[in-house]
Amino acid sequence: MMLDDIRARIGDAPIALGMILGSGLGQMAGEMEDATSIPFDQIEGMPQSGVSGHAGALVVGNLEGVRCAILSGRVHYYEQGHAAAMRPALELLAALGAQSVLLTNSAGSTREGMPPGSLMALNDHINYSGLNPLIGDGGDERFVGMVDAYAPDLLARLRDAAQAEGITLHQGVYAWFSGPSFETPAEIRMIRTMGADAVGMSTVPETILARRIGLKVAAISCITNFGAGMTTTNNSHAETLEESAKARGAFIQLVRAYIRSFA
Ligand code: HPA
Repeated sequence: MMLDDIRARIGDAPIALGMILGSGLGQMAGEMEDATSIPFDQIEGMPQSGVSGHAGALVVGNLEGVRCAILSGRVHYYEQGHAAAMRPALELLAALGAQSVLLTNSAGSTREGMPPGSLMALNDHINYSGLNPLIGDGGDERFVGMVDAYAPDLLARLRDAAQAEGITLHQGVYAWFSGPSFETPAEIRMIRTMGADAVGMSTVPETILARRIGLKVAAISCITNFGAGMTTTNNSHAETLEESAKARGAFIQLVRAYIRSFA
């Protein structure tokens, strides 16, 4: 399916914002009204995700009276060794009229005061992977400025939404490790010293791509665990899914209030 076919399916009304939902957070796509869902495998150029908890569909519909497009399920660098895997998906959001994108993820915390179940708005990131989704991109526009990559006005909307809902929203720096293995305790100590508050395997390449495409970015981490070595247990994907499920209620409440600010 190409852009015109997608428009024929979802209608011409521009979407107000796009979203990418992380591990265990895809449920919101099912809550949209007047929704049209198009599986990624029916859309030209879309990569396929094989991670449990990532469904893989473009869902367009209304949430809180605002027309939204959700990319339910993302493709990670570690799946295909391709940092720009989400580029077609983000370009599609922009082509459908989105001015901004809300990126969500599950992440580990490096801060004792930010335990599992916490929500953190990203105010910056550290690209610790050494990878960049724009490698091989042409033209001077590849030299994307990354000051205020997480748009201050969108961050303020998130903060206001959290306050209105009585939800505690931390703010901090997210460090990208490629995964899929989790970090070592030494890596967590290092990244904490370097200024990271949370660590995860996604979002950063999407932020870089979004800025290249001209989409503004807001991002939220759902903290599912403490970083490696901070507790006596080891990390696992089961833990990520279990803990993100627990935080889902507050997460959806926050995202809904954020969306309402666009109405
Ligand atoms: N590290 C990396 N990615 C993650 C983590 C983590 O501790 N938790 C959830 N996603």
